[in-house]
Amino acid sequence: MSGGVIAIDGPSASGKSSTARAVAEALGFAHLDSGSLYRGVTLVGLRELARHGMRGDDPARDLPPETLRRAAEDRGLMLQPDGAGFAAYLEGEPVDDELRSPTVTSRVSAISAIPVVREWINSRLRAMVRAGQNVVVDGRDIGTVVFPDADLKIFLTASAEARAGRRISQRGHTIEAEDLDAEAAALAARDHADSTRAVAPLRPAEDAVHLDTTTMGFAEQVRFIVERAQPIFSRP
Ligand code: DC
Repeated sequence: MSGGVIAIDGPSASGKSSTARAVAEALGFAHLDSGSLYRGVTLVGLRELARHGMRGDDPARDLPPETLRRAAEDRGLMLQPDGAGFAAYLEGEPVDDELRSPTVTSRVSAISAIPVVREWINSRLRAMVRAGQNVVVDGRDIGTVVFPDADLKIFLTASAEARAGRRISQRGHTIEAEDLDAEAAALAARDHADSTRAVAPLRPAEDAVHLDTTTMGFAEQVRFIVERAQPIFSRP
């Protein structure tokens, strides 16, 4: 039996993961962060390059797609149940911290444009839902490609400046105008790459509920989604 699905898509740093986690907690669902699998394949690629003493630090450019996919499979890249959500494992070790490193972050967009990688990740995500678990899944193409029949689809946005400010605060830094501009430019570059790629570009599903959180507090945006979800999932 398939589980219920709430899909949360949106651009980088729109707060998808933290929102998805809080919504999942409120509803007793599990949170699946699809971006962590794209980051995981990026880390797999970086480790493959290092392992084989290959020059280059851009796995999307320096390794064939099939090598990447096979290495992800063979090295045991997976999301394992961990409390209310899932944690990323590689070679039997938790790797969530490493997945947020600047090197992985700067290489992941190119990895996510590779069709073989997308198909592999999508099949993993779908298998988890087929196992019957109710999930909140966040990403870029969850409502459009991975789970087009999701029970509820949310497209989360915020202005580039608001997103840049949140990213800087997350790192525990104070927000300086110069950093804000640089961060907003980096986010805009990733949004552009994610929205204009040929395969599964970032775009809202036609039936997605749009939620602009530029001036919203975190608790308010979580409540907005939970209130839309409750009637759907309490139907007999
Ligand atoms: O959400 P994130 O920053 O962890 O995502 C990392 C990268 O993976 C980002 O560049 C977009 C890509 N991604 C994607 O293409 N499709 C998804 N469903 C999730 C992430």
